[in-house]
Amino acid sequence: MPVEMELDPFVLAKSLSGVHLIDGEFVAPINGKTFDVLNPATNKSIGHAAEGDADDVERAVAVAKAAQKDWAQRPARERGKLVAECGRILNQHVDELGKLIALESGKALRTESRVEASVLADMFVFFGGLASELKGETIPFNPNMMTLTTREPVGVVGAIIPWNVPLLLMAIKVAPALVAGNSVVVKSAEDTPFTVLRVCQIMQQILPKGVLNILSGFGPGCGGPLVAHKDVKKVSFTGSVETGRIVYRAAAEKLIPVTLELGGKSPMIVMGDADIEKAVAGAIGGMRFTRQGQSCTASSRILVHEDLHDDFVARLKDKVNSLKMGNPLDEATDIGTIINAKQRAKVCNYIEIGSSEGAQKHELSALPDDPELADGQFVRPVIFTDVKHDARIAREEIFGPVACVFKFKTFDEAIELANDSDFGLAATVWTTDLKTALVATKRLEAGFVQVNQNLVVQPNLSYGGVKLSGLGREASLESMLEHFTHKKTIILNME
Ligand code: NAI
Ligand code: MG
Repeated sequence: MPVEMELDPFVLAKSLSGVHLIDGEFVAPINGKTFDVLNPATNKSIGHAAEGDADDVERAVAVAKAAQKDWAQRPARERGKLVAECGRILNQHVDELGKLIALESGKALRTESRVEASVLADMFVFFGGLASELKGETIPFNPNMMTLTTREPVGVVGAIIPWNVPLLLMAIKVAPALVAGNSVVVKSAEDTPFTVLRVCQIMQQILPKGVLNILSGFGPGCGGPLVAHKDVKKVSFTGSVETGRIVYRAAAEKLIPVTLELGGKSPMIVMGDADIEKAVAGAIGGMRFTRQGQSCTASSRILVHEDLHDDFVARLKDKVNSLKMGNPLDEATDIGTIINAKQRAKVCNYIEIGSSEGAQKHELSALPDDPELADGQFVRPVIFTDVKHDARIAREEIFGPVACVFKFKTFDEAIELANDSDFGLAATVWTTDLKTALVATKRLEAGFVQVNQNLVVQPNLSYGGVKLSGLGREASLESMLEHFTHKKTIILNME
């Protein structure tokens, strides 16, 4: 089906209402149920999403299972070319997808949403080019035996994604899974069902029917049956630790592999010799203030050497104050909204807890004054100083625009504090000394460590965490080979 460009996100959300995408077609949920999807900037409905349940899961998995057989039989490079072609077509829709994700997620269009839409396209192009890397080895096992390995697809993959960066997180699951010869059923997040549905609709122009299917619905009602389905042979999940545990347990019952990406409380160490201007800019980017801090890698624990601490805090406050909060669809807006009322209440509760635990609160930027946005889920960014290391705001993932700044004296103390966390997703260190940088990267307990920068997920850089931040790596060649294929060993006796 050819897909006409639609640059009005309100029209687009309505047109995508009430359906899943199964076997290349939009279909209503079997139970006929839908739920309201809100624009978090106004709290008004923008459409309704299909409320999938076990029956829809059954239908989607059956289709995916049937389609996977032919898909896996195609030459790897042919699959890769089709996936890369999806990326090229998605790239033509960047503006459209950026606006739609800004509307449903509340993330500002210029600083966040359009950027995410372009990274999505890039990931499909990148993984499409990796198809020839699905290769095996020959092993010198015995001169009379030819011994080799091949990479085989796992079958139907279940992908469960959250609302904070749904396009990117879908891409790093779907693209490698498809290139490796699997079919996929995606379960979108409740708050952001439309943009990922639109992406899958656009991809139907290229892909054979049934290899990529998408359901919307609630976690236990739709995600649960997907994980539990007997024909789903691998689950890739991004979201909370709590739900990650539920998914892991259900997968354990079936003895299937899972990838879990579960967030963090990432440290940023600013040494006394750091370039303070760059470090402050890095804190703004790393904390994702423009995304209301809703990032699993958010640099929410900023450890600053005592010589720089006060200057750093003053400059950070100035920079955050200069960010403009407003309508996510407005090009002038730097900071959009929190995703929904529940999440906003959670964030505001943490801000109260922080003050009651004795930390000093600095509330920054300003709420938008547009009356249209009066019911929006806006929260002013907060920096806490004088935070105790055992305070709840210092240890728990807030997933909002709340950063804690701590003072330290020595390098060893900074590393110890940085590692004193249940999480281990990302970490950064800011220093002009090479030895300090190298030792820090060695000692920091995290899956993604950077020096003097704070990049987000990039094609071919393995991404994932240790400790409660999860299991497995995504976004790289290794992620495709290790998580979306299994290795078959073949021994031919030549005697
Ligand atoms: P969640 O982990 O409950 O939701 C993520 C996805 O899992 C959604 O698609 C949801 O429908 C699905 N899900 C929920 N329960 C499920 C179940 N029993 N079986 C299968 N799938 C299920 O996250 P939620 O409730 O949206 O946010 C709560 C907190 O999680 C946030 O405050 C934040 O701390 C954290 N979070 C972390 C993210 C990350 O990138 N690591 C992303 C989103 C949230
Ligand atoms: Mg939940």
